[in-house]
Amino acid sequence: MNPKILIVEDESNMRKTLSSILEEEGFISVQAAQAKEGLKILSEQNISLIISDIKMPQMDGIEFLREVRTKGYDIPLIFITAYGSFDSAVEALRLGAYDYITKPFEPETVVHTVKRALEHKKLTEENIYLREELERKYGFEGLVGNTQCMRDVYALIEKVADSKVPVLLRGESGTGKELVARAIHKISRRKDKNFVVINCGALPETLLESEIFGHEKGAFTGADKKKPGIFEIGNEGTIFLDEVGDLSPSVQMKLLRFLQSEEFIRVGGTTPLKVDVRIISATNKNLDKLIEEKRFRDDLYYRINTVSINIPPLRDRKEDIPLLIDHFLKKYSKEDNIPIKKVSEEVLRVLCEYPWRGNVRELENLIRAALVLSKGNVIKIEDIPPVIRQADKSDSVTGKNNIIPSPSSEQKESFSFKQIREKAEKEYLIYTLKKTAGNISKASKLAGLSRRHFYDKIQQYGINPRKL
Ligand SMILES: Nc1ncnc2c1ncn2[C@@H]1O[C@H](COP(=O)(O)OP(=O)(O)OP(=O)(O)O)[C@@H](O)[C@H]1O
Ligand SMILES: [Mg+2]
Repeated sequence: MNPKILIVEDESNMRKTLSSILEEEGFISVQAAQAKEGLKILSEQNISLIISDIKMPQMDGIEFLREVRTKGYDIPLIFITAYGSFDSAVEALRLGAYDYITKPFEPETVVHTVKRALEHKKLTEENIYLREELERKYGFEGLVGNTQCMRDVYALIEKVADSKVPVLLRGESGTGKELVARAIHKISRRKDKNFVVINCGALPETLLESEIFGHEKGAFTGADKKKPGIFEIGNEGTIFLDEVGDLSPSVQMKLLRFLQSEEFIRVGGTTPLKVDVRIISATNKNLDKLIEEKRFRDDLYYRINTVSINIPPLRDRKEDIPLLIDHFLKKYSKEDNIPIKKVSEEVLRVLCEYPWRGNVRELENLIRAALVLSKGNVIKIEDIPPVIRQADKSDSVTGKNNIIPSPSSEQKESFSFKQIREKAEKEYLIYTLKKTAGNISKASKLAGLSRRHFYDKIQQYGINPRKL
Protein backbone atom coordinates (compact mmCIF):
# COMPACT_ATOMS: atom_id res chain seq x y z
CA MET A 1 0.00 0.00 0.00
CA ASN A 2 1.18 3.52 -0.73
CA PRO A 3 2.52 5.48 2.26
CA LYS A 4 -0.05 7.53 4.11
CA ILE A 5 1.02 11.08 4.99
CA LEU A 6 -0.61 13.22 7.63
CA ILE A 7 -0.77 16.97 6.93
CA VAL A 8 -1.29 19.16 10.00
CA GLU A 9 -1.91 22.74 8.92
CA ASP A 10 -4.42 25.37 10.01
CA GLU A 11 -4.63 27.17 6.65
CA SER A 12 -6.96 25.23 4.44
CA ASN A 13 -5.40 26.44 1.17
CA MET A 14 -2.00 25.28 2.21
CA ARG A 15 -3.44 21.92 3.29
CA LYS A 16 -5.04 21.44 -0.09
CA THR A 17 -1.88 22.43 -1.98
CA LEU A 18 0.24 19.98 -0.02
CA SER A 19 -2.34 17.27 -0.38
CA SER A 20 -2.52 17.57 -4.17
CA ILE A 21 1.29 17.64 -4.52
CA LEU A 22 1.50 14.41 -2.54
CA GLU A 23 -1.42 12.63 -4.19
CA GLU A 24 -0.02 13.40 -7.60
CA GLU A 25 3.04 11.42 -6.55
CA GLY A 26 0.88 8.48 -5.52
CA PHE A 27 0.90 9.09 -1.74
CA ILE A 28 -2.29 8.98 0.29
CA SER A 29 -2.85 12.14 2.31
CA VAL A 30 -4.89 12.74 5.44
CA GLN A 31 -5.54 16.26 6.61
CA ALA A 32 -5.88 17.79 10.07
CA ALA A 33 -6.60 21.47 10.73
CA GLN A 34 -5.27 21.29 14.28
CA ALA A 35 -2.55 19.48 16.17
CA LYS A 36 -5.08 17.78 18.47
CA GLU A 37 -6.92 16.38 15.48
CA GLY A 38 -3.56 15.21 14.11
CA LEU A 39 -2.86 13.28 17.33
CA LYS A 40 -6.25 11.61 17.08
CA ILE A 41 -5.59 10.51 13.50
CA LEU A 42 -2.18 9.15 14.56
CA SER A 43 -3.86 6.95 17.15
CA GLU A 44 -6.35 5.60 14.64
CA GLN A 45 -4.50 5.23 11.36
CA ASN A 46 -1.25 3.83 10.14
CA ILE A 47 0.69 6.98 9.23
CA SER A 48 4.14 6.80 7.59
CA LEU A 49 5.11 10.46 7.72
CA ILE A 50 3.87 13.79 9.07
CA ILE A 51 4.08 17.23 7.49
CA SER A 52 3.21 19.92 9.99
CA ASP A 53 3.09 23.68 10.15
CA ILE A 54 4.99 25.26 13.03
CA LYS A 55 2.81 28.28 13.69
CA MET A 56 -0.66 27.13 14.58
CA PRO A 57 -3.24 28.44 17.08
CA GLN A 58 -3.68 26.43 20.32
CA MET A 59 -1.05 23.72 20.11
CA ASP A 60 1.84 24.81 17.86
CA GLY A 61 4.01 22.50 15.76
CA ILE A 62 6.83 22.19 18.29
CA GLU A 63 4.42 21.22 21.04
CA PHE A 64 2.77 18.79 18.63
CA LEU A 65 6.13 17.15 17.84
CA ARG A 66 6.84 16.78 21.56
CA GLU A 67 3.47 15.09 22.05
CA VAL A 68 4.07 12.78 19.09
CA ARG A 69 7.39 11.64 20.56
CA THR A 70 6.05 11.35 24.13
CA LYS A 71 3.30 9.11 22.86
CA GLY A 72 5.99 6.91 21.37
CA TYR A 73 5.36 7.45 17.63
CA ASP A 74 8.66 7.12 15.83
CA ILE A 75 7.35 8.69 12.61
CA PRO A 76 9.44 11.16 10.57
CA LEU A 77 8.08 14.68 10.73
CA ILE A 78 8.77 17.50 8.28
CA PHE A 79 7.97 21.07 9.32
CA ILE A 80 6.71 23.83 7.09
CA THR A 81 8.02 27.18 8.33
CA ALA A 82 7.55 30.73 7.18
CA TYR A 83 10.63 32.23 5.62
CA GLY A 84 12.76 33.80 8.38
CA SER A 85 11.63 31.72 11.37
CA PHE A 86 14.96 30.00 11.35
CA ASP A 87 15.23 29.71 15.13
CA SER A 88 12.15 27.58 15.52
CA ALA A 89 13.28 25.39 12.63
CA VAL A 90 16.57 24.71 14.41
CA GLU A 91 14.68 23.98 17.61
CA ALA A 92 12.47 21.61 15.63
CA LEU A 93 15.44 19.63 14.34
CA ARG A 94 16.88 19.47 17.83
CA LEU A 95 13.62 17.96 19.01
CA GLY A 96 13.79 15.27 16.41
CA ALA A 97 12.07 16.60 13.32
CA TYR A 98 13.45 15.00 10.17
CA ASP A 99 13.72 18.22 8.17
CA TYR A 100 11.94 21.50 7.43
CA ILE A 101 10.73 23.26 4.29
CA THR A 102 10.45 27.03 4.14
CA LYS A 103 7.45 28.77 2.61
CA PRO A 104 7.05 29.51 -0.23
CA PHE A 105 8.23 26.22 -1.67
CA GLU A 106 8.41 24.43 -5.01
CA PRO A 107 6.35 21.21 -5.24
CA GLU A 108 9.54 19.28 -6.11
CA THR A 109 11.11 20.34 -2.80
CA VAL A 110 8.21 18.78 -0.94
CA VAL A 111 8.28 15.59 -2.97
CA HIS A 112 12.03 15.25 -2.68
CA THR A 113 12.09 15.81 1.10
CA VAL A 114 9.21 13.39 1.67
CA LYS A 115 10.83 10.65 -0.42
CA ARG A 116 14.16 11.07 1.35
CA ALA A 117 12.49 10.88 4.78
CA LEU A 118 10.61 7.72 3.82
CA GLU A 119 13.75 6.12 2.44
CA HIS A 120 15.61 6.99 5.63
CA LYS A 121 12.83 5.48 7.71
CA LYS A 122 12.89 2.30 5.69
CA LEU A 123 16.65 1.95 6.09
CA THR A 124 16.59 2.46 9.85
CA GLU A 125 13.74 0.02 10.20
CA GLU A 126 15.63 -2.52 8.13
CA ASN A 127 18.73 -1.96 10.21
CA ILE A 128 16.88 -2.45 13.44
CA TYR A 129 15.21 -5.49 12.00
CA LEU A 130 18.48 -6.93 10.75
CA ARG A 131 20.15 -6.36 14.09
CA GLU A 132 17.27 -7.97 15.91
CA GLU A 133 17.29 -10.82 13.45
CA LEU A 134 21.02 -11.37 13.92
CA GLU A 135 20.68 -11.30 17.67
CA ARG A 136 17.78 -13.71 17.57
CA LYS A 137 19.89 -16.02 15.50
CA TYR A 138 23.18 -15.82 17.34
CA GLY A 139 22.75 -14.25 20.72
CA PHE A 140 21.56 -11.41 22.84
CA GLU A 141 23.06 -8.04 23.81
CA GLY A 142 26.68 -8.98 23.23
CA LEU A 143 26.17 -12.54 24.42
CA VAL A 144 26.82 -15.05 21.67
CA GLY A 145 25.14 -18.42 21.86
CA ASN A 146 22.00 -20.02 20.59
CA THR A 147 21.66 -23.23 22.56
CA GLN A 148 18.50 -23.77 24.56
CA CYS A 149 20.30 -23.23 27.88
CA MET A 150 21.60 -19.85 26.72
CA ARG A 151 18.17 -18.90 25.35
CA ASP A 152 16.79 -19.65 28.81
CA VAL A 153 19.39 -17.25 30.22
CA TYR A 154 18.33 -14.54 27.74
CA ALA A 155 14.69 -15.02 28.67
CA LEU A 156 15.53 -14.57 32.36
CA ILE A 157 17.59 -11.45 31.62
CA GLU A 158 14.61 -9.95 29.85
CA LYS A 159 12.28 -10.86 32.67
CA VAL A 160 14.34 -9.33 35.46
CA ALA A 161 15.76 -6.32 33.58
CA ASP A 162 13.13 -3.76 34.35
CA SER A 163 12.52 -4.57 37.97
CA LYS A 164 14.83 -3.88 40.86
CA VAL A 165 14.94 -7.44 42.13
CA PRO A 166 18.43 -8.49 43.24
CA VAL A 167 19.93 -11.07 40.92
CA LEU A 168 22.62 -13.60 41.71
CA LEU A 169 24.64 -14.90 38.77
CA ARG A 170 26.24 -18.27 39.25
CA GLY A 171 28.68 -19.90 36.93
CA GLU A 172 32.23 -21.09 36.56
CA SER A 173 34.97 -18.62 35.83
CA GLY A 174 34.83 -17.24 32.29
CA THR A 175 31.23 -18.26 31.56
CA GLY A 176 30.14 -14.66 31.01
CA LYS A 177 28.69 -13.56 34.35
CA GLU A 178 29.84 -9.99 33.92
CA LEU A 179 28.53 -9.91 30.38
CA VAL A 180 25.12 -11.08 31.63
CA ALA A 181 25.15 -8.39 34.34
CA ARG A 182 25.92 -5.77 31.69
CA ALA A 183 23.15 -7.10 29.46
CA ILE A 184 20.63 -6.74 32.31
CA HIS A 185 21.77 -3.15 32.84
CA LYS A 186 21.79 -2.36 29.13
CA ILE A 187 18.18 -3.29 28.55
CA SER A 188 16.87 -1.88 31.81
CA ARG A 189 15.55 1.63 32.32
CA ARG A 190 18.78 2.34 34.22
CA LYS A 191 20.82 1.98 31.03
CA ASP A 192 21.79 5.65 30.81
CA LYS A 193 23.10 5.65 34.38
CA ASN A 194 26.26 4.01 35.68
CA PHE A 195 27.06 0.33 35.75
CA VAL A 196 29.61 0.01 38.54
CA VAL A 197 31.69 -3.11 39.10
CA ILE A 198 33.31 -3.93 42.37
CA ASN A 199 35.43 -7.01 42.78
CA CYS A 200 34.80 -8.09 46.35
CA GLY A 201 37.75 -10.46 46.35
CA ALA A 202 40.38 -8.05 45.11
CA LEU A 203 40.64 -5.58 47.99
CA PRO A 204 41.49 -5.83 51.69
CA GLU A 205 38.49 -5.44 53.98
CA THR A 206 38.89 -1.79 55.06
CA LEU A 207 39.59 -0.57 51.56
CA LEU A 208 36.66 -2.53 50.17
CA GLU A 209 34.36 -1.04 52.76
CA SER A 210 35.33 2.48 51.81
CA GLU A 211 35.12 1.61 48.11
CA ILE A 212 31.54 0.45 48.57
CA PHE A 213 30.23 2.95 51.09
CA GLY A 214 32.67 5.84 50.65
CA HIS A 215 34.37 7.62 53.52
CA GLU A 216 34.40 10.94 55.32
CA LYS A 217 37.48 13.05 55.58
CA GLY A 218 39.70 11.74 58.38
CA ALA A 219 37.85 8.43 58.66
CA PHE A 220 41.17 6.59 58.76
CA THR A 221 44.85 7.35 58.20
CA GLY A 222 45.25 8.51 54.65
CA ALA A 223 41.60 9.56 54.26
CA ASP A 224 42.51 13.18 53.63
CA LYS A 225 39.45 13.85 51.51
CA LYS A 226 35.82 12.86 51.56
CA LYS A 227 35.25 10.15 48.98
CA PRO A 228 31.96 8.87 47.59
CA GLY A 229 31.59 5.10 47.39
CA ILE A 230 30.22 3.04 44.54
CA PHE A 231 26.71 3.23 45.97
CA GLU A 232 26.74 6.95 45.39
CA ILE A 233 28.52 6.73 42.03
CA GLY A 234 26.03 4.11 40.94
CA ASN A 235 22.96 5.96 42.19
CA GLU A 236 20.00 5.23 39.89
CA GLY A 237 22.20 2.72 38.09
CA THR A 238 23.38 -0.85 38.63
CA ILE A 239 26.00 -2.16 41.06
CA PHE A 240 27.74 -5.37 40.14
CA LEU A 241 29.20 -7.14 43.18
CA ASP A 242 31.63 -9.58 41.63
CA GLU A 243 32.93 -12.53 43.69
CA VAL A 244 30.39 -11.77 46.39
CA GLY A 245 31.40 -14.96 48.20
CA ASP A 246 34.66 -13.26 49.18
CA LEU A 247 33.03 -10.54 51.30
CA SER A 248 34.27 -10.32 54.87
CA PRO A 249 31.73 -10.78 57.72
CA SER A 250 31.68 -7.08 58.60
CA VAL A 251 31.06 -5.94 55.02
CA GLN A 252 28.42 -8.67 54.68
CA MET A 253 26.69 -7.22 57.70
CA LYS A 254 26.76 -3.68 56.28
CA LEU A 255 25.57 -4.81 52.91
CA LEU A 256 22.67 -6.64 54.52
CA ARG A 257 21.68 -3.49 56.40
CA PHE A 258 21.77 -1.56 53.18
CA LEU A 259 19.61 -4.10 51.36
CA GLN A 260 17.06 -3.94 54.14
CA SER A 261 16.83 -0.16 54.38
CA GLU A 262 18.41 1.18 51.16
CA GLU A 263 20.41 3.43 53.49
CA PHE A 264 24.07 3.40 54.38
CA ILE A 265 26.60 5.46 56.25
CA ARG A 266 29.99 6.43 54.84
CA VAL A 267 32.98 5.04 56.73
CA GLY A 268 33.66 7.53 59.55
CA GLY A 269 30.32 9.23 59.01
CA THR A 270 27.11 9.46 61.00
CA THR A 271 24.45 10.59 58.53
CA PRO A 272 22.54 7.84 56.75
CA LEU A 273 22.44 8.33 52.98
CA LYS A 274 19.77 7.02 50.69
CA VAL A 275 20.36 5.79 47.15
CA ASP A 276 18.46 3.90 44.50
CA VAL A 277 20.64 1.13 43.10
CA ARG A 278 20.02 -2.22 41.51
CA ILE A 279 22.25 -4.97 42.89
CA ILE A 280 23.53 -7.80 40.76
CA SER A 281 25.94 -10.20 42.47
CA ALA A 282 28.06 -12.94 40.99
CA THR A 283 29.97 -15.89 42.30
CA ASN A 284 31.80 -18.91 41.02
CA LYS A 285 31.89 -20.38 44.52
CA ASN A 286 29.34 -22.67 46.06
CA LEU A 287 27.53 -20.25 48.37
CA ASP A 288 25.49 -23.00 50.01
CA LYS A 289 28.71 -24.59 51.15
CA LEU A 290 30.04 -21.25 52.44
CA ILE A 291 26.80 -20.83 54.40
CA GLU A 292 27.17 -24.28 55.87
CA GLU A 293 30.70 -23.41 56.90
CA LYS A 294 29.35 -20.17 58.42
CA ARG A 295 31.47 -18.06 56.10
CA PHE A 296 28.52 -16.44 54.38
CA ARG A 297 25.41 -15.07 56.13
CA ASP A 298 22.27 -16.86 55.10
CA ASP A 299 20.12 -13.74 55.63
CA LEU A 300 22.34 -11.87 53.15
CA TYR A 301 22.19 -14.82 50.79
CA TYR A 302 18.37 -14.66 50.66
CA ARG A 303 18.53 -10.91 50.00
CA ILE A 304 20.94 -11.05 47.08
CA ASN A 305 19.50 -14.20 45.64
CA THR A 306 15.89 -13.27 44.99
CA VAL A 307 16.40 -14.49 41.45
CA SER A 308 19.40 -16.52 40.44
CA ILE A 309 20.63 -17.13 36.92
CA ASN A 310 22.87 -20.09 36.30
CA ILE A 311 25.22 -19.64 33.39
CA PRO A 312 26.14 -23.04 32.00
CA PRO A 313 29.77 -24.00 31.41
CA LEU A 314 30.89 -24.01 27.78
CA ARG A 315 31.29 -27.80 27.71
CA ASP A 316 27.52 -28.10 28.27
CA ARG A 317 26.76 -25.98 25.21
CA LYS A 318 29.27 -27.19 22.67
CA GLU A 319 26.98 -26.24 19.78
CA ASP A 320 27.76 -22.62 20.62
CA ILE A 321 31.50 -23.09 20.08
CA PRO A 322 31.48 -22.50 16.28
CA LEU A 323 29.42 -19.33 16.77
CA LEU A 324 31.80 -18.08 19.45
CA ILE A 325 34.86 -18.87 17.30
CA ASP A 326 33.34 -16.91 14.46
CA HIS A 327 32.48 -14.04 16.78
CA PHE A 328 36.01 -13.80 18.22
CA LEU A 329 37.63 -14.13 14.80
CA LYS A 330 35.63 -11.13 13.62
CA LYS A 331 36.10 -9.19 16.83
CA TYR A 332 39.87 -9.55 17.01
CA SER A 333 40.64 -9.28 13.34
CA LYS A 334 39.02 -5.86 13.62
CA GLU A 335 40.56 -4.93 16.95
CA ASP A 336 44.06 -6.18 16.17
CA ASN A 337 43.88 -5.08 12.55
CA ILE A 338 44.47 -8.53 11.07
CA PRO A 339 42.79 -9.74 7.86
CA ILE A 340 39.91 -12.08 8.68
CA LYS A 341 40.86 -15.76 8.93
CA LYS A 342 39.02 -19.04 9.14
CA VAL A 343 39.76 -22.12 11.21
CA SER A 344 40.39 -25.42 9.46
CA GLU A 345 37.89 -28.26 9.77
CA GLU A 346 40.31 -30.13 11.97
CA VAL A 347 40.78 -27.16 14.31
CA LEU A 348 37.03 -26.72 14.54
CA ARG A 349 36.62 -30.38 15.46
CA VAL A 350 39.33 -30.22 18.12
CA LEU A 351 37.97 -27.00 19.63
CA CYS A 352 34.44 -28.37 19.74
CA GLU A 353 35.65 -31.41 21.67
CA TYR A 354 37.93 -29.63 24.13
CA PRO A 355 36.42 -29.33 27.63
CA TRP A 356 37.24 -25.61 28.16
CA ARG A 357 37.71 -25.44 31.89
CA GLY A 358 38.37 -21.70 31.49
CA ASN A 359 35.10 -21.49 29.52
CA VAL A 360 34.47 -18.69 27.00
CA ARG A 361 37.42 -16.62 28.26
CA GLU A 362 39.84 -19.46 27.48
CA LEU A 363 38.36 -19.91 24.01
CA GLU A 364 38.49 -16.16 23.41
CA ASN A 365 42.18 -15.95 24.38
CA LEU A 366 43.05 -18.94 22.22
CA ILE A 367 41.36 -17.52 19.13
CA ARG A 368 43.01 -14.15 19.60
CA ALA A 369 46.46 -15.70 19.94
CA ALA A 370 45.94 -18.03 16.98
CA LEU A 371 44.75 -15.14 14.86
CA VAL A 372 47.90 -13.16 15.61
CA LEU A 373 50.38 -16.01 15.41
CA SER A 374 49.11 -18.06 12.45
CA LYS A 375 50.35 -17.52 8.92
CA GLY A 376 48.02 -17.35 5.92
CA ASN A 377 44.29 -17.03 6.10
CA VAL A 378 43.48 -20.37 7.69
CA ILE A 379 44.21 -21.27 11.31
CA LYS A 380 45.61 -24.78 11.18
CA ILE A 381 46.06 -27.46 13.79
CA GLU A 382 49.76 -26.51 14.21
CA ASP A 383 48.62 -23.05 15.32
CA ILE A 384 46.76 -24.53 18.27
CA PRO A 385 48.74 -25.16 21.48
CA PRO A 386 49.66 -28.85 21.98
CA VAL A 387 47.84 -29.03 25.34
CA ILE A 388 44.58 -28.40 23.54
CA ARG A 389 45.39 -30.57 20.54
CA GLN A 390 46.28 -33.51 22.72
CA ALA A 391 43.79 -33.04 25.50
CA ASP A 392 42.61 -36.31 26.85
CA LYS A 393 38.88 -36.24 26.69
CA SER A 394 38.21 -39.02 29.12
CA ASP A 395 39.20 -37.26 32.33
CA SER A 396 38.85 -33.67 31.30
CA VAL A 397 35.12 -33.16 31.45
CA THR A 398 34.60 -34.33 34.97
CA GLY A 399 38.00 -33.16 36.12
CA LYS A 400 38.49 -36.56 37.83
CA ASN A 401 41.98 -37.72 38.53
CA ASN A 402 42.40 -41.12 36.98
CA ILE A 403 44.43 -43.49 39.10
CA ILE A 404 45.90 -45.24 36.08
CA PRO A 405 47.50 -42.63 33.88
CA SER A 406 45.78 -42.75 30.52
CA PRO A 407 47.92 -42.77 27.40
CA SER A 408 48.18 -39.62 25.34
CA SER A 409 45.77 -39.55 22.42
CA GLU A 410 48.64 -40.21 20.01
CA GLN A 411 49.57 -43.41 21.82
CA LYS A 412 45.97 -44.40 22.02
CA GLU A 413 45.43 -43.85 18.33
CA SER A 414 48.45 -45.90 17.21
CA PHE A 415 47.58 -48.64 19.67
CA SER A 416 44.06 -49.03 18.42
CA PHE A 417 45.17 -48.80 14.80
CA LYS A 418 47.70 -51.59 15.37
CA GLN A 419 45.04 -53.71 17.04
CA ILE A 420 42.61 -53.25 14.19
CA ARG A 421 45.26 -53.98 11.59
CA GLU A 422 46.31 -57.19 13.32
CA LYS A 423 42.74 -58.35 13.65
CA ALA A 424 42.08 -57.71 9.99
CA GLU A 425 45.28 -59.41 8.89
CA LYS A 426 44.55 -62.49 10.96
CA GLU A 427 41.00 -62.73 9.64
CA TYR A 428 42.24 -62.34 6.09
CA LEU A 429 44.90 -65.06 6.45
CA ILE A 430 42.32 -67.47 7.86
CA TYR A 431 39.94 -66.60 5.02
CA THR A 432 42.56 -67.38 2.33
CA LEU A 433 43.50 -70.67 4.01
CA LYS A 434 39.87 -71.74 4.31
CA LYS A 435 39.33 -70.92 0.66
CA THR A 436 42.30 -73.09 -0.38
CA ALA A 437 41.60 -75.94 2.05
CA GLY A 438 44.71 -75.13 4.08
CA ASN A 439 47.09 -75.09 1.08
CA ILE A 440 49.79 -72.55 2.00
CA SER A 441 51.15 -72.19 -1.58
CA LYS A 442 47.69 -71.50 -3.02
CA ALA A 443 46.69 -69.24 -0.10
CA SER A 444 49.85 -67.11 -0.38
CA LYS A 445 49.16 -66.66 -4.11
CA LEU A 446 45.61 -65.56 -3.33
CA ALA A 447 46.92 -63.07 -0.81
CA GLY A 448 49.56 -61.77 -3.22
CA LEU A 449 52.35 -62.59 -0.78
CA SER A 450 55.45 -64.73 -1.16
CA ARG A 451 55.11 -68.19 0.36
CA ARG A 452 57.83 -67.32 2.86
CA HIS A 453 56.16 -64.06 3.93
CA PHE A 454 52.75 -65.78 4.22
CA TYR A 455 54.26 -68.54 6.34
CA ASP A 456 55.90 -66.01 8.68
CA LYS A 457 52.60 -64.23 9.09
CA ILE A 458 50.59 -67.31 10.03
CA GLN A 459 53.34 -68.22 12.48
CA GLN A 460 53.13 -64.74 13.97
CA TYR A 461 49.39 -65.07 14.56
CA GLY A 462 49.62 -68.67 15.70
CA ILE A 463 47.38 -69.95 12.89
CA ASN A 464 47.49 -73.68 12.25
CA PRO A 465 46.29 -74.39 8.65
CA ARG A 466 45.29 -77.94 9.59
CA LYS A 467 43.09 -76.85 12.44
CA LEU A 468 40.78 -74.43 10.71
N1 LIG B 1 28.25 -15.78 25.55
C1 LIG B 1 29.33 -15.03 25.30
N2 LIG B 1 29.46 -14.42 24.11
C2 LIG B 1 30.54 -13.67 23.82
N3 LIG B 1 31.54 -13.46 24.67
C3 LIG B 1 31.48 -14.04 25.87
C4 LIG B 1 30.37 -14.84 26.26
N4 LIG B 1 30.58 -15.28 27.50
C5 LIG B 1 31.74 -14.78 27.89
N5 LIG B 1 32.30 -14.01 26.93
C6 LIG B 1 33.60 -13.34 26.98
O1 LIG B 1 34.44 -14.13 27.80
C7 LIG B 1 35.17 -13.34 28.70
C8 LIG B 1 34.83 -13.72 30.12
O2 LIG B 1 33.50 -13.30 30.41
P1 LIG B 1 33.10 -12.67 31.82
O3 LIG B 1 34.19 -11.78 32.33
O4 LIG B 1 31.75 -12.10 31.72
O5 LIG B 1 33.09 -14.02 32.67
P2 LIG B 1 32.87 -14.24 34.23
O6 LIG B 1 31.87 -15.33 34.36
O7 LIG B 1 32.56 -12.94 34.87
O8 LIG B 1 34.28 -14.79 34.69
P3 LIG B 1 35.00 -14.70 36.15
O9 LIG B 1 34.21 -15.59 37.08
O10 LIG B 1 36.35 -15.27 35.90
O11 LIG B 1 34.99 -13.28 36.54
C9 LIG B 1 34.85 -11.90 28.36
O12 LIG B 1 35.83 -11.37 27.50
C10 LIG B 1 33.51 -11.99 27.67
O13 LIG B 1 33.37 -10.94 26.77
MG1 LIG C 1 33.72 -11.86 36.22
